[in-house]
Amino acid sequence: MYPFKQCNLLPIHEISNWGCIIVRQQTFFCVTRFCLYQFSFISTAFNTFERNHKMNRVTVFTSGGDAPGMSACLRAVVKTALLHNLEVFGIVRDYSGMVLGNFIPFDFNTVSNIIQRGRTILKSACCEEFRTVKGRAKAAAQLKKFNTDEVVAIGGDGTFTGAQIFAKEHGIPYIGCPGTIDNDLFGTDYTIGHDKSLNIVIEAVDKIRDTADVHDRLFFVEVMVRDAGFIEQRSGIAVGADSVLIPETETLVESLIKRLEVERSHQKTRFMVIVAEGDCGGGVYEVARKVKEKYNHYETKVTELGHIQRGGSASAADRVLAGMLGKAAVEALLEGEMNQMAGVINRKLVFANFEKAIKHHRKINKDLLNLAESLA
Ligand code: F6P
Repeated sequence: MYPFKQCNLLPIHEISNWGCIIVRQQTFFCVTRFCLYQFSFISTAFNTFERNHKMNRVTVFTSGGDAPGMSACLRAVVKTALLHNLEVFGIVRDYSGMVLGNFIPFDFNTVSNIIQRGRTILKSACCEEFRTVKGRAKAAAQLKKFNTDEVVAIGGDGTFTGAQIFAKEHGIPYIGCPGTIDNDLFGTDYTIGHDKSLNIVIEAVDKIRDTADVHDRLFFVEVMVRDAGFIEQRSGIAVGADSVLIPETETLVESLIKRLEVERSHQKTRFMVIVAEGDCGGGVYEVARKVKEKYNHYETKVTELGHIQRGGSASAADRVLAGMLGKAAVEALLEGEMNQMAGVINRKLVFANFEKAIKHHRKINKDLLNLAESLA
């Protein structure tokens, strides 16, 4: 039995087995839709877009915080679509480009020489207008004007939240590819950009260690990841941090000090504490201040890594993941799938519906947390 079924994830090679279920569901939806028309209860959601089973044109966009590998994913989407003889359009600047009709055509040349790029060539932008019913109606009208049949969205939870609402209101078939350094989406073991960001943190902390070592200092390094501790947890193990403070666990300054004291009794003279951006201890400066107040054996320094974690060319792991998910997204749309996020679990391609992907944040792995502590 597949573990996916318990959490409603669909391995890609099982899509055909699910065909009969999908057909039954579609029949049910057709009957329901017909009745709604008859009784004039139809909402704009149903008459704006008809699902075009013969897909001709796919539109792709990147959204939310940029993540290394988004361009590689875009390339995979475009190439796969072109190889299936589909027309491909890209939306420049996220949902705001959708509202304004900022669409560009893609061909093999436009995605040439982008696989290594960190940033997304389609850019990304916040769009207040898309948060409104009116704004989303404008976006739907633009998609219709461009004869868009289906959409691939590359982004994080904010992107898929928007996609879910939009798809419900206007019936537009979407498939999502998880592109965020945070790795916080349910339905995939890894998100595109996470690996590179993790490696940036490791490289940065290794550099900071040189100074910590020479000057016998206690460093607090803030790692950027809003409300999830995945980068911190794994980088903590990889750099042999003395402590890792993440949003998922309570930050107790007393126990941190005890820990530092034990290390000091082992003749250790430099310390590295990784603090998540969203840690509940009041932020890296506050934690450092509280520790310093009670424990002043060492000079204390704070480094915030910030957006350095999102830059640079994509790592090998991110590029491979981006390729797999980008291709899978287009193929899933061709199979008639919609409103799901492509992901990889236990090295297998799976799909999770948007609702699950955004609502059920991935749980932190307690074994990894213990490992970080025991190897500190
Ligand atoms: O979600 C990605 C992320 O980089 C988070 O890790 C971080 O908290 C946030 O985006 C920063 O957003 P912005 O680029 O808008 O400052």
